[in-house]
Amino acid sequence: MAVGIFDSGLGGLTVLGAIEKRLPELPLVYYGDNAHAPYGVRTADDIYDLTTRATERLFDAGCDLVILACNTASAAALRRMQEGWVPKGKRVLGVFVPLIEALTERHWGDNSPPREVDVKHVALFATPATVRSRAFQRELAFRAIGVDVEAQACGGVVDAIEEGDLILAEALVRSHVDALKRKMPEPDAAILGCTHYPLMAETFQEALGPRVKVFSQADLVAESLADYLVRRPEMVGPGTEAGFLTTGNPRQVSTRATQFLRRKIDFVAA
Ligand code: DGL
Repeated sequence: MAVGIFDSGLGGLTVLGAIEKRLPELPLVYYGDNAHAPYGVRTADDIYDLTTRATERLFDAGCDLVILACNTASAAALRRMQEGWVPKGKRVLGVFVPLIEALTERHWGDNSPPREVDVKHVALFATPATVRSRAFQRELAFRAIGVDVEAQACGGVVDAIEEGDLILAEALVRSHVDALKRKMPEPDAAILGCTHYPLMAETFQEALGPRVKVFSQADLVAESLADYLVRRPEMVGPGTEAGFLTTGNPRQVSTRATQFLRRKIDFVAA
């Protein structure tokens, strides 16, 4: 029994950590495409090709269900994959919907018409490709009315995290928050719309101030997966071995992952 977790690099580990906490018995196979990160500056076609290749590898590892723990892939590739690529008996899910359902106070499967919700001014921090796709705004418009979204493309942050340069990552986060606040001085909620960003959550919260509610995607995705597996237990695939795969340098990626998750992680070549 195994579920696959995919990200362009280390960011999906934030989702993996939350799933491990929520579903400790579930074996997870992680795939980090570190050799090709960041995805956020790539074209949609390129992101689609890389994401399908990675997902195929996770199917081969015995995972029938793969979570794209990457907003950029969820925004740029998921719909196209679901429409014509995902083989019968397999399932690929993204990380957007659980987050938007939480923001719009909905439970899974509530397809009622859009309505007014509590939050009015939402700051979205994401990669350039996610911002360009407008996928977040599209999903939100299905569920809520009267929500003003200001998106900030956070160039450079994923690169700095992947390089392990947290001082640079912190400086970039502060400057992106400043830029956002010039466009929207008083957001009431913030979405960290890239799975790498929770690794910098404290800096985001500090720069935004205590009054802004920062939504944690990792916990929401873990909860929604737990829910999904109760409804579709057969989607836990035949694989039994957990593991960590990378297209990057396994030694280097293991060191960074160990630093971020604060426990020993050993990646092997994908
Ligand atoms: N963690 C990916 C996301 O959630 C990062 C994308 C990238 O590699 O730029 O969007």
